[in-house]
Amino acid sequence: MNVKLNRPKLGLYVHWPYCARICPYCDFNVRKDRGQDTDFLVDAIIADIKGWRTRLGDMPALSSLSLGGGTPSLLQPRQMHRIIQAAEKSFGFVADIEISLEANPTDFETDRYADFASAGVNRLSLGIQSLEQQQLEFLGRDHTVTEALNALQEARKQFTSVSADFIYGLPKQSVAKWQEQLTEILELSLQHLSLYCLSIEPKTMFFKQYERGQLTPVNDDQMADLYELTQSMTAQIGYAAYETSNHAIDDDNRSKHNLLYWQGDDWIGVGPGAHGRASIDGSRHELASYRQVQKYADAVRKTGWGVEVSQKISPEDDLAERLLLGLRLEEGIDLSTMQSRAGCEIDRQLLENSTKAGLVSMENGMLKASIPLLVDRIGAELLL
Ligand SMILES: C[S@@+](CC[C@H](N)C(=O)[O-])C[C@H]1O[C@@H](n2cnc3c(N)ncnc32)[C@H](O)[C@@H]1O
Ligand code: SF4
Repeated sequence: MNVKLNRPKLGLYVHWPYCARICPYCDFNVRKDRGQDTDFLVDAIIADIKGWRTRLGDMPALSSLSLGGGTPSLLQPRQMHRIIQAAEKSFGFVADIEISLEANPTDFETDRYADFASAGVNRLSLGIQSLEQQQLEFLGRDHTVTEALNALQEARKQFTSVSADFIYGLPKQSVAKWQEQLTEILELSLQHLSLYCLSIEPKTMFFKQYERGQLTPVNDDQMADLYELTQSMTAQIGYAAYETSNHAIDDDNRSKHNLLYWQGDDWIGVGPGAHGRASIDGSRHELASYRQVQKYADAVRKTGWGVEVSQKISPEDDLAERLLLGLRLEEGIDLSTMQSRAGCEIDRQLLENSTKAGLVSMENGMLKASIPLLVDRIGAELLL
Protein backbone atom coordinates (compact mmCIF):
# COMPACT_ATOMS: atom_id res chain seq x y z
CA MET A 1 0.00 0.00 0.00
CA ASN A 2 1.28 3.46 -0.89
CA VAL A 3 0.57 5.78 2.02
CA LYS A 4 1.15 9.49 1.40
CA LEU A 5 0.48 12.34 3.77
CA ASN A 6 -1.20 15.39 2.31
CA ARG A 7 0.35 17.93 4.65
CA PRO A 8 3.64 18.60 6.34
CA LYS A 9 2.24 18.05 9.85
CA LEU A 10 2.04 14.62 11.42
CA GLY A 11 1.03 13.56 14.94
CA LEU A 12 1.18 10.24 16.78
CA TYR A 13 -1.45 9.19 19.31
CA VAL A 14 -0.68 6.29 21.66
CA HIS A 15 -3.66 4.79 23.48
CA TRP A 16 -2.96 3.13 26.84
CA PRO A 17 -6.22 1.41 27.85
CA TYR A 18 -5.60 0.58 31.53
CA CYS A 19 -7.05 2.52 34.46
CA ALA A 20 -6.80 1.94 38.21
CA ARG A 21 -10.58 2.33 38.44
CA ILE A 22 -13.28 2.76 35.82
CA CYS A 23 -15.16 6.05 36.26
CA PRO A 24 -18.96 5.87 35.98
CA TYR A 25 -19.17 8.55 33.25
CA CYS A 26 -16.37 7.30 30.99
CA ASP A 27 -16.98 5.65 27.60
CA PHE A 28 -13.38 5.56 26.40
CA ASN A 29 -11.79 2.23 25.45
CA VAL A 30 -10.66 1.31 28.96
CA ARG A 31 -10.22 -1.69 31.22
CA LYS A 32 -9.15 -2.18 34.79
CA ASP A 33 -5.46 -2.41 35.59
CA ARG A 34 -5.14 -5.53 37.72
CA GLY A 35 -1.39 -5.33 38.03
CA GLN A 36 -1.00 -7.70 35.07
CA ASP A 37 2.17 -7.76 33.01
CA THR A 38 1.81 -5.10 30.31
CA ASP A 39 5.17 -5.42 28.57
CA PHE A 40 3.52 -7.45 25.77
CA LEU A 41 1.32 -4.42 24.96
CA VAL A 42 4.27 -2.02 25.03
CA ASP A 43 6.07 -4.41 22.64
CA ALA A 44 3.02 -4.44 20.35
CA ILE A 45 2.73 -0.64 20.38
CA ILE A 46 6.42 -0.31 19.48
CA ALA A 47 6.08 -2.88 16.67
CA ASP A 48 2.98 -1.01 15.41
CA ILE A 49 4.92 2.30 15.36
CA LYS A 50 7.66 0.60 13.34
CA GLY A 51 5.02 -0.95 11.06
CA TRP A 52 3.61 2.50 10.33
CA ARG A 53 7.06 3.82 9.56
CA THR A 54 7.57 1.10 6.96
CA ARG A 55 4.19 1.79 5.36
CA LEU A 56 4.48 5.57 5.35
CA GLY A 57 7.74 5.87 3.43
CA ASP A 58 8.50 9.58 3.01
CA MET A 59 6.89 11.63 5.70
CA PRO A 60 7.48 14.59 7.96
CA ALA A 61 8.92 14.33 11.46
CA LEU A 62 6.35 14.19 14.26
CA SER A 63 5.01 17.56 15.46
CA SER A 64 3.27 15.97 18.42
CA LEU A 65 3.17 12.75 20.35
CA SER A 66 0.21 12.29 22.64
CA LEU A 67 0.01 9.55 25.25
CA GLY A 68 -3.66 9.24 26.14
CA GLY A 69 -6.08 6.72 27.50
CA GLY A 70 -7.15 5.25 29.73
CA THR A 71 -4.40 6.22 32.12
CA PRO A 72 -0.98 6.30 30.45
CA SER A 73 0.55 7.70 33.67
CA LEU A 74 0.26 4.09 34.90
CA LEU A 75 2.96 3.11 32.41
CA GLN A 76 6.26 2.41 34.08
CA PRO A 77 8.77 5.15 33.22
CA ARG A 78 10.99 2.59 31.44
CA GLN A 79 7.99 1.54 29.29
CA MET A 80 7.21 5.15 28.44
CA HIS A 81 10.85 5.76 27.60
CA ARG A 82 10.82 2.80 25.20
CA ILE A 83 7.69 4.05 23.41
CA ILE A 84 8.99 7.62 23.05
CA GLN A 85 12.38 6.36 21.84
CA ALA A 86 10.73 4.09 19.25
CA ALA A 87 8.66 7.02 17.97
CA GLU A 88 11.70 9.25 17.65
CA LYS A 89 13.76 6.56 15.97
CA SER A 90 10.99 5.72 13.51
CA PHE A 91 9.67 9.17 12.60
CA GLY A 92 12.02 11.80 14.00
CA PHE A 93 10.78 14.75 16.05
CA VAL A 94 10.48 18.40 15.00
CA ALA A 95 12.60 20.63 17.26
CA ASP A 96 9.67 21.92 19.30
CA ILE A 97 7.72 18.66 19.46
CA GLU A 98 4.96 18.47 22.05
CA ILE A 99 5.09 15.20 23.99
CA SER A 100 1.99 15.17 26.15
CA LEU A 101 0.81 12.76 28.80
CA GLU A 102 -2.65 12.38 30.34
CA ALA A 103 -2.33 11.68 34.05
CA ASN A 104 -4.58 10.96 36.99
CA PRO A 105 -3.51 12.98 40.03
CA THR A 106 -2.87 10.20 42.53
CA ASP A 107 0.25 10.29 44.72
CA PHE A 108 1.39 7.02 43.13
CA GLU A 109 1.64 8.68 39.72
CA THR A 110 2.89 12.06 40.97
CA ASP A 111 6.01 10.38 42.36
CA ARG A 112 6.97 9.42 38.81
CA TYR A 113 6.75 12.86 37.15
CA ALA A 114 10.52 13.41 37.21
CA ASP A 115 11.04 10.08 35.44
CA PHE A 116 8.33 10.87 32.89
CA ALA A 117 10.01 14.22 32.20
CA SER A 118 13.38 12.44 31.76
CA ALA A 119 11.69 10.10 29.28
CA GLY A 120 10.82 13.19 27.19
CA VAL A 121 7.32 14.24 28.27
CA ASN A 122 7.07 18.07 28.22
CA ARG A 123 3.32 18.60 28.67
CA LEU A 124 1.17 17.09 31.40
CA SER A 125 -2.60 17.03 31.29
CA LEU A 126 -4.06 16.26 34.71
CA GLY A 127 -7.58 14.88 35.08
CA ILE A 128 -8.55 16.77 38.22
CA GLN A 129 -12.29 16.96 37.32
CA SER A 130 -13.38 18.92 40.42
CA LEU A 131 -12.10 20.93 43.36
CA GLU A 132 -15.04 19.75 45.49
CA GLN A 133 -14.38 16.51 47.38
CA GLN A 134 -18.05 15.45 47.22
CA GLN A 135 -18.10 15.83 43.45
CA LEU A 136 -14.91 13.76 43.13
CA GLU A 137 -16.66 10.99 45.05
CA PHE A 138 -19.77 11.30 42.87
CA LEU A 139 -17.51 11.03 39.79
CA GLY A 140 -15.94 7.86 41.24
CA ARG A 141 -12.43 9.33 41.25
CA ASP A 142 -9.67 7.70 43.24
CA HIS A 143 -7.90 10.92 44.22
CA THR A 144 -8.68 13.68 46.69
CA VAL A 145 -8.63 17.46 46.16
CA THR A 146 -5.43 17.64 48.23
CA GLU A 147 -3.74 14.98 46.09
CA ALA A 148 -4.76 16.86 42.95
CA LEU A 149 -3.30 20.13 44.23
CA ASN A 150 -0.05 18.35 45.18
CA ALA A 151 0.08 16.80 41.74
CA LEU A 152 -0.28 20.25 40.18
CA GLN A 153 2.54 21.64 42.28
CA GLU A 154 4.87 18.81 41.31
CA ALA A 155 3.80 18.97 37.66
CA ARG A 156 4.76 22.66 37.49
CA LYS A 157 8.27 21.75 38.63
CA GLN A 158 8.72 19.02 36.06
CA PHE A 159 6.94 20.05 32.84
CA THR A 160 7.11 23.06 30.53
CA SER A 161 3.35 23.12 30.10
CA VAL A 162 0.65 21.94 32.50
CA SER A 163 -3.04 21.53 31.78
CA ALA A 164 -5.95 20.32 33.90
CA ASP A 165 -9.34 18.83 33.00
CA PHE A 166 -12.50 19.73 34.91
CA ILE A 167 -16.09 18.58 34.42
CA TYR A 168 -19.07 20.82 35.17
CA GLY A 169 -22.83 20.55 34.73
CA LEU A 170 -23.04 17.79 37.35
CA PRO A 171 -26.56 16.96 38.61
CA LYS A 172 -27.92 19.81 40.78
CA GLN A 173 -24.81 21.95 40.22
CA SER A 174 -26.02 25.55 40.45
CA VAL A 175 -24.55 28.48 38.53
CA ALA A 176 -23.47 29.99 41.88
CA LYS A 177 -21.62 26.84 42.99
CA TRP A 178 -19.86 26.49 39.64
CA GLN A 179 -18.95 30.17 39.75
CA GLU A 180 -17.32 29.59 43.16
CA GLN A 181 -15.36 26.60 41.90
CA LEU A 182 -14.36 28.19 38.61
CA THR A 183 -13.01 31.18 40.56
CA GLU A 184 -10.76 28.77 42.48
CA ILE A 185 -9.75 26.99 39.26
CA LEU A 186 -8.79 30.25 37.60
CA GLU A 187 -6.79 31.28 40.66
CA LEU A 188 -4.54 28.28 39.97
CA SER A 189 -3.24 30.27 36.94
CA LEU A 190 -2.64 27.19 34.84
CA GLN A 191 -1.19 27.41 31.35
CA HIS A 192 -4.08 25.40 29.93
CA LEU A 193 -7.53 24.28 31.03
CA SER A 194 -10.03 21.86 29.52
CA LEU A 195 -13.49 22.58 30.94
CA TYR A 196 -15.98 19.92 29.85
CA CYS A 197 -19.76 19.75 30.22
CA LEU A 198 -20.71 16.38 31.74
CA SER A 199 -22.09 14.17 29.03
CA ILE A 200 -24.08 11.05 29.92
CA GLU A 201 -22.80 8.48 27.45
CA PRO A 202 -24.62 5.26 26.50
CA LYS A 203 -23.37 2.07 28.20
CA THR A 204 -21.76 3.95 31.11
CA MET A 205 -22.78 3.48 34.75
CA PHE A 206 -24.22 7.01 34.78
CA PHE A 207 -26.39 6.17 31.78
CA LYS A 208 -27.78 3.10 33.57
CA GLN A 209 -28.52 5.22 36.64
CA TYR A 210 -30.21 7.80 34.40
CA GLU A 211 -32.37 5.10 32.78
CA ARG A 212 -33.41 3.86 36.23
CA GLY A 213 -34.33 7.41 37.25
CA GLN A 214 -31.51 7.51 39.83
CA LEU A 215 -29.60 10.32 38.12
CA THR A 216 -31.11 13.52 36.75
CA PRO A 217 -28.74 15.41 34.44
CA VAL A 218 -28.95 19.20 34.23
CA ASN A 219 -31.21 20.22 31.34
CA ASP A 220 -30.01 21.99 28.17
CA ASP A 221 -30.93 25.47 29.45
CA GLN A 222 -29.10 24.93 32.72
CA MET A 223 -26.05 23.62 30.87
CA ALA A 224 -26.15 26.61 28.51
CA ASP A 225 -26.17 28.97 31.55
CA LEU A 226 -23.16 27.16 33.04
CA TYR A 227 -21.37 27.26 29.69
CA GLU A 228 -22.04 30.99 29.25
CA LEU A 229 -20.74 31.71 32.72
CA THR A 230 -17.61 29.71 31.91
CA GLN A 231 -17.05 31.65 28.71
CA SER A 232 -17.54 35.05 30.29
CA MET A 233 -15.44 34.39 33.41
CA THR A 234 -12.54 33.01 31.38
CA ALA A 235 -12.74 35.79 28.77
CA GLN A 236 -12.70 38.44 31.50
CA ILE A 237 -9.20 37.41 32.56
CA GLY A 238 -7.84 36.96 29.04
CA TYR A 239 -8.31 33.22 29.08
CA ALA A 240 -11.01 32.94 26.43
CA ALA A 241 -11.72 29.55 24.84
CA TYR A 242 -9.68 28.88 21.71
CA GLU A 243 -11.83 25.77 21.21
CA THR A 244 -15.29 24.97 22.62
CA SER A 245 -13.89 23.49 25.87
CA ASN A 246 -10.24 24.53 25.82
CA HIS A 247 -8.48 27.59 27.20
CA ALA A 248 -4.82 28.57 27.00
CA ILE A 249 -2.87 31.37 28.59
CA ASP A 250 -1.14 32.04 25.23
CA ASP A 251 -0.67 30.48 21.78
CA ASP A 252 2.39 28.47 22.89
CA ASN A 253 0.33 26.63 25.48
CA ARG A 254 -2.47 25.54 23.17
CA SER A 255 -2.57 21.77 22.72
CA LYS A 256 -0.57 21.21 19.54
CA HIS A 257 -1.78 17.65 19.25
CA ASN A 258 -5.48 18.48 19.58
CA LEU A 259 -5.07 21.41 17.16
CA LEU A 260 -3.90 18.87 14.64
CA TYR A 261 -7.32 17.14 14.90
CA TRP A 262 -9.32 20.37 14.75
CA GLN A 263 -7.29 21.76 11.85
CA GLY A 264 -7.57 18.57 9.80
CA ASP A 265 -3.91 17.49 9.79
CA ASP A 266 -2.79 13.86 9.69
CA TRP A 267 -2.20 11.61 12.64
CA ILE A 268 -1.55 7.97 13.26
CA GLY A 269 -3.04 6.11 16.20
CA VAL A 270 -1.40 3.12 17.89
CA GLY A 271 -2.62 1.06 20.83
CA PRO A 272 -5.99 -0.68 21.30
CA GLY A 273 -8.88 1.26 19.75
CA ALA A 274 -6.71 4.21 18.67
CA HIS A 275 -8.06 6.20 15.72
CA GLY A 276 -6.17 8.01 12.99
CA ARG A 277 -6.58 10.00 9.78
CA ALA A 278 -4.05 9.88 6.96
CA SER A 279 -3.95 10.25 3.23
CA ILE A 280 -3.45 6.87 1.60
CA ASP A 281 -3.05 6.54 -2.17
CA GLY A 282 -4.18 10.16 -2.48
CA SER A 283 -7.38 9.96 -0.42
CA ARG A 284 -8.04 10.58 3.22
CA HIS A 285 -8.63 7.42 5.23
CA GLU A 286 -10.32 6.72 8.49
CA LEU A 287 -8.08 4.40 10.50
CA ALA A 288 -8.89 2.47 13.65
CA SER A 289 -6.97 -0.17 15.57
CA TYR A 290 -8.47 -3.30 17.14
CA ARG A 291 -10.18 -2.33 20.38
CA GLN A 292 -9.49 -5.49 22.36
CA VAL A 293 -6.02 -5.62 23.86
CA GLN A 294 -5.27 -9.23 22.90
CA LYS A 295 -6.72 -8.87 19.38
CA TYR A 296 -4.64 -5.74 18.89
CA ALA A 297 -1.43 -7.42 20.07
CA ASP A 298 -2.15 -10.52 17.93
CA ALA A 299 -2.83 -8.39 14.84
CA VAL A 300 0.45 -6.52 15.27
CA ARG A 301 2.33 -9.80 15.71
CA LYS A 302 0.75 -11.35 12.60
CA THR A 303 0.59 -8.39 10.21
CA GLY A 304 3.05 -5.81 11.55
CA TRP A 305 0.34 -3.30 12.47
CA GLY A 306 -2.81 -3.14 14.59
CA VAL A 307 -5.22 -1.54 12.13
CA GLU A 308 -8.69 -3.09 11.93
CA VAL A 309 -10.38 -0.36 9.88
CA SER A 310 -8.74 1.45 6.98
CA GLN A 311 -11.53 3.06 5.03
CA LYS A 312 -11.57 5.73 2.37
CA ILE A 313 -13.55 8.83 3.41
CA SER A 314 -15.68 10.34 0.64
CA PRO A 315 -14.98 14.02 -0.16
CA GLU A 316 -18.42 14.95 1.25
CA ASP A 317 -17.84 13.11 4.53
CA ASP A 318 -14.33 14.53 4.70
CA LEU A 319 -15.70 18.05 4.28
CA ALA A 320 -18.36 17.42 6.95
CA GLU A 321 -15.77 16.16 9.41
CA ARG A 322 -13.35 19.00 8.77
CA LEU A 323 -16.19 21.49 9.14
CA LEU A 324 -17.54 20.08 12.40
CA LEU A 325 -14.06 19.92 13.94
CA GLY A 326 -12.79 23.22 12.54
CA LEU A 327 -15.84 25.19 13.65
CA ARG A 328 -15.00 24.26 17.24
CA LEU A 329 -12.05 26.64 16.99
CA GLU A 330 -12.66 30.22 18.08
CA GLU A 331 -10.65 31.51 15.11
CA GLY A 332 -12.68 29.26 12.78
CA ILE A 333 -11.33 27.48 9.72
CA ASP A 334 -9.85 28.58 6.46
CA LEU A 335 -12.74 27.77 4.12
CA SER A 336 -10.81 27.56 0.85
CA THR A 337 -8.00 25.40 2.30
CA MET A 338 -10.57 23.10 3.89
CA GLN A 339 -12.51 22.75 0.63
CA SER A 340 -9.41 22.08 -1.43
CA ARG A 341 -8.19 19.43 1.03
CA ALA A 342 -11.58 17.75 1.09
CA GLY A 343 -11.94 18.02 -2.68
CA CYS A 344 -15.49 19.42 -2.60
CA GLU A 345 -17.34 22.59 -1.67
CA ILE A 346 -20.01 23.70 0.77
CA ASP A 347 -23.35 24.47 -0.87
CA ARG A 348 -23.19 28.27 -1.47
CA GLN A 349 -26.92 28.74 -0.78
CA LEU A 350 -26.76 26.94 2.56
CA LEU A 351 -23.70 28.98 3.51
CA GLU A 352 -25.50 32.21 2.61
CA ASN A 353 -28.62 31.18 4.57
CA SER A 354 -26.58 30.23 7.65
CA THR A 355 -24.66 33.51 7.47
CA LYS A 356 -27.90 35.51 7.16
CA ALA A 357 -29.37 33.57 10.09
CA GLY A 358 -26.33 34.61 12.16
CA LEU A 359 -25.15 31.04 12.73
CA VAL A 360 -21.78 31.55 11.05
CA SER A 361 -19.67 34.47 9.89
CA MET A 362 -16.81 34.89 7.41
CA GLU A 363 -13.80 37.03 8.29
CA ASN A 364 -10.68 37.15 6.12
CA GLY A 365 -11.49 33.78 4.59
CA MET A 366 -12.07 32.18 8.01
CA LEU A 367 -15.47 30.59 8.60
CA LYS A 368 -16.54 30.90 12.25
CA ALA A 369 -19.41 29.53 14.31
CA SER A 370 -21.30 32.23 16.20
CA ILE A 371 -22.29 29.95 19.10
CA PRO A 372 -19.55 27.34 19.64
CA LEU A 373 -21.76 25.19 21.89
CA LEU A 374 -24.11 24.68 18.94
CA VAL A 375 -21.43 23.63 16.48
CA ASP A 376 -23.09 20.29 15.74
CA ARG A 377 -26.39 21.97 14.90
CA ILE A 378 -24.68 24.67 12.85
CA GLY A 379 -22.72 22.00 10.98
CA ALA A 380 -25.95 20.16 10.23
CA GLU A 381 -27.50 23.36 8.74
CA LEU A 382 -24.46 23.85 6.51
CA LEU A 383 -24.42 20.27 5.34
CA LEU A 384 -28.10 19.57 4.71
C1 LIG B 1 -9.19 10.47 28.17
S1 LIG B 1 -10.09 11.19 29.43
C2 LIG B 1 -9.21 10.73 30.86
C3 LIG B 1 -7.85 11.07 31.23
C4 LIG B 1 -7.45 10.48 32.57
N1 LIG B 1 -7.53 9.05 32.56
C5 LIG B 1 -8.33 10.99 33.69
O1 LIG B 1 -9.37 10.38 33.94
O2 LIG B 1 -7.96 11.94 34.35
C6 LIG B 1 -9.83 12.90 29.22
C7 LIG B 1 -10.87 13.78 29.88
O3 LIG B 1 -12.14 13.66 29.28
C8 LIG B 1 -13.11 14.14 30.18
N2 LIG B 1 -14.28 13.26 30.12
C9 LIG B 1 -14.28 11.93 30.01
N3 LIG B 1 -15.56 11.47 29.96
C10 LIG B 1 -16.37 12.56 30.05
C11 LIG B 1 -17.79 12.75 30.06
N4 LIG B 1 -18.62 11.72 29.97
N5 LIG B 1 -18.26 14.01 30.14
C12 LIG B 1 -17.42 15.06 30.22
N6 LIG B 1 -16.08 14.94 30.22
C13 LIG B 1 -15.56 13.71 30.15
C14 LIG B 1 -12.47 14.16 31.57
O4 LIG B 1 -12.31 15.49 32.01
C15 LIG B 1 -11.14 13.50 31.33
O5 LIG B 1 -10.12 14.02 32.16
S1 SF4 C 1 -12.01 9.03 33.08
FE1 SF4 C 1 -9.85 8.50 32.93
S2 SF4 C 1 -9.47 7.20 34.73
FE2 SF4 C 1 -11.65 7.30 34.51
S3 SF4 C 1 -12.14 5.46 33.33
FE3 SF4 C 1 -11.94 7.16 31.87
S4 SF4 C 1 -9.87 7.12 31.17
FE4 SF4 C 1 -9.98 5.85 33.04
